[in-house]
Amino acid sequence: MARPVTKAIFPVAGLGTRFLPATKVLPKEMLPVVDKPLIQYAVEEAMEAGIEEMIMVTAPGKGALEDHFRPAVELESFLEARGKTEALATIRENFPQPKSISFTLQDDPLGLGHAVWCARDFIGNEPFAVLLPDDLMQAIPGCLSQMMDAYHVTGGNVVAVEEVAAELTSRYGILDVIEDDGRLARAKGLVEKPSPKDAPSRLAIIGRYILQPEVFEHLNKKVTGAGGEIQLTDALAATLGDIAFHGLRIDGRRFDCGSKMGFVEANIAFAAERSDLSDG
Ligand code: G1P
Repeated sequence: MARPVTKAIFPVAGLGTRFLPATKVLPKEMLPVVDKPLIQYAVEEAMEAGIEEMIMVTAPGKGALEDHFRPAVELESFLEARGKTEALATIRENFPQPKSISFTLQDDPLGLGHAVWCARDFIGNEPFAVLLPDDLMQAIPGCLSQMMDAYHVTGGNVVAVEEVAAELTSRYGILDVIEDDGRLARAKGLVEKPSPKDAPSRLAIIGRYILQPEVFEHLNKKVTGAGGEIQLTDALAATLGDIAFHGLRIDGRRFDCGSKMGFVEANIAFAAERSDLSDG
């Protein structure tokens, strides 16, 4: 039986330079798709999948993320006094309230593997999820819920994957597939950001992970990989002999909100699903 997953890491230390000047003072994870910040979509997706305890690995200057998950007492009383019940509900009854959200600093931007490693004490010896809020998922049930269902069958490490165009493999962690039923692919190898000619497939990791704690043994070694960074993909590759690794194609859509095009597309797609906006 696969062990239950109740903790999640949100690596949110990136500088968001692709969205300057918007991200000069605003953390990129606070950029709204329609009217909700990216980080809140990720937190809601995690809660739907049964995650109770969350940790955000953040960087100096990104305090707005912490503020967003604190009660806004004055704003609430203001809205209450004015009878603005709908607006009030968005920050109170309908606001995600997991059992806990904590924050820890990644003092050096050494890569995604390093960011995850920064949360090792919080995770301890349990399986855990990692959600990259730049990857916004539009799926019912949510992406992580779909992965949990697969994980209860496969155990081991499970990531969300998507087939990408051959020329885009150098942006992703790519699976070397040994078995594939069209939905679930088992990997025998993993490569971070290979050039198209070196890519073992076009199946790319898209920002959602369910992982076993053994990955920390490899992250502890602080080996650098692609781009001179400590890569999560490399640490996962090192566990392949011992731990099963599956990529799950999600029933739904994924938007790369780390790119301007993906961000604009996400706004249109999410607005189209909203009863108050779809006609317009
Ligand atoms: C990270 C991971 C990569 C993964 C991608 C998904 O890369 O290192 O393996 O495919 O997220 O978005 P980044 O986008 O941080 O460069």
